[in-house]
Amino acid sequence: MHKRSVICLGKGLFGVALVGLLATPLLAAEVGSVDWSQVPVSKPRLFYPGQSSYEWLRIEDHKKASNEVKGGEACLKCHKGEQKSLGGILVEEGRLEPDPIDGKSGYKRIEVQAAHDAENIYLRVSWESDAEVEGNLGNFIRSEGGEWAFWGNHRQHETVLDEEQPAIYPDRLGIMIGDNSVPLYPEHGCWMTCHDSLVGMPEEADEDEVAEHPVIGKLYEKFGVKNEHVRKFLPGSRDDETSWDTVKAEGDLAALRKKGAFLDLIIWDASLTNPVDYAADFNVLEIKKVDAGDSPLLPNGKMIGGPEYMFDTAKVGYAALTEDDLNDPAKAKHLILGVNTAPYDAGAIEDGGLLPAHVLDPQKASGSAADVQAKGTWEDGTYTVVLSRKLDTGHPDDDIALKVGSIYTFGFSIHDDAAGKRAHQVSFPVTVSIGAGAADIQAVTLK
Ligand code: HEC
Repeated sequence: MHKRSVICLGKGLFGVALVGLLATPLLAAEVGSVDWSQVPVSKPRLFYPGQSSYEWLRIEDHKKASNEVKGGEACLKCHKGEQKSLGGILVEEGRLEPDPIDGKSGYKRIEVQAAHDAENIYLRVSWESDAEVEGNLGNFIRSEGGEWAFWGNHRQHETVLDEEQPAIYPDRLGIMIGDNSVPLYPEHGCWMTCHDSLVGMPEEADEDEVAEHPVIGKLYEKFGVKNEHVRKFLPGSRDDETSWDTVKAEGDLAALRKKGAFLDLIIWDASLTNPVDYAADFNVLEIKKVDAGDSPLLPNGKMIGGPEYMFDTAKVGYAALTEDDLNDPAKAKHLILGVNTAPYDAGAIEDGGLLPAHVLDPQKASGSAADVQAKGTWEDGTYTVVLSRKLDTGHPDDDIALKVGSIYTFGFSIHDDAAGKRAHQVSFPVTVSIGAGAADIQAVTLK
């Protein structure tokens, strides 16, 4: 594959990146087509946030800062350079962390590079994993005496804490994107979506109430999601901005979307999206939900109710994995339609056999849910993920249309070492300039 080059990179009068002549001809947008050695590296600082919800930030416990936060003061106005010490405190047991994770790191520096051309944005993100092994295992189901049961869960799940199940959960990179169309998002970033009612938070909403809620419950029904927790939402989507169940009327939400008053959320997942070169594409307004269209991810039949696919023995040498196979890097861990699957045959699987609970079908990917191409690799403990997306995806209800000449606010998050839910490291707001002058990250202009 040819690499596109960026040469003569310099700063113009207004700090705008200038790009000179091309060394190689223009190529179609492709993940991996950018010569990253020419693109400057920024190093956002991520830290463990514990239960520091948007509600907590605006009560007196947030020392002498609650009024300032309510008044719109930026986190970084007071906390610049404090990420390492904040994370060090918050990762330990304390008022904002009732369930600490042994050995979890409170601080993580990631490396980010960005580039764009007239049509696409390209990002390259790299980080050192907390775990010593690649975290590319997803949800599994296990054959037990003719029945199927889920196998493995995230590190803080009760079945893992009780040592009934192994800690198996995929590593993830989250990128939240927005601008001041969401008032205060440039100042407060991801925290605006984090509330006490979310899973693992101090006032986790009752699952039955969530299921019965006329808007949120209905949405879950529509997505076929069984696990009924409150997910990220923006205060602007509520009549009472922090209570999960006061969702604004449909017409008001539609008007907010039309104004672009929602967030874009890309989640690259080492197991559920990476094997077929995608990242998942979500948006956050009344709830965090996957964009319209079809992602390449499908449940494997009825999962514990009976899978539809197993591995194709002729292709990979086995129908199901054993527990030992999970630690063998040479063994295929993902069912990819058209590549390594065969129709499920109960007779081919021994007791204890493991199958992925999901199937990936790259042919199915279409529409807004399939806007983000991505490829991640893991080497000696370091992930490197390259992502690309159209600046304007043409899906204005789900995606923020990025414009050349603008600055956006990004929030980065990392989940690794089988961490689930809120056990991630996150960044304070990070500014990204697409040909618009000074920012934390400059997207270099490619020709
Ligand atoms: C007006 C200044 C100010 C602003 C603005 C501010 N903070 Fe704070 N924050 C403080 C002070 C002071 C403390 C207590 C001392 C400390 O731990 O640094 C604190 C503590 C915290 C803690 C708890 C650390 C612990 O000891 O447990 C977190 C988490 C936090 N802030 C996050 C944020 C976030 C996120 C924002 C933006 C939404 C924010 N802060 C905005 C001043 C501020």
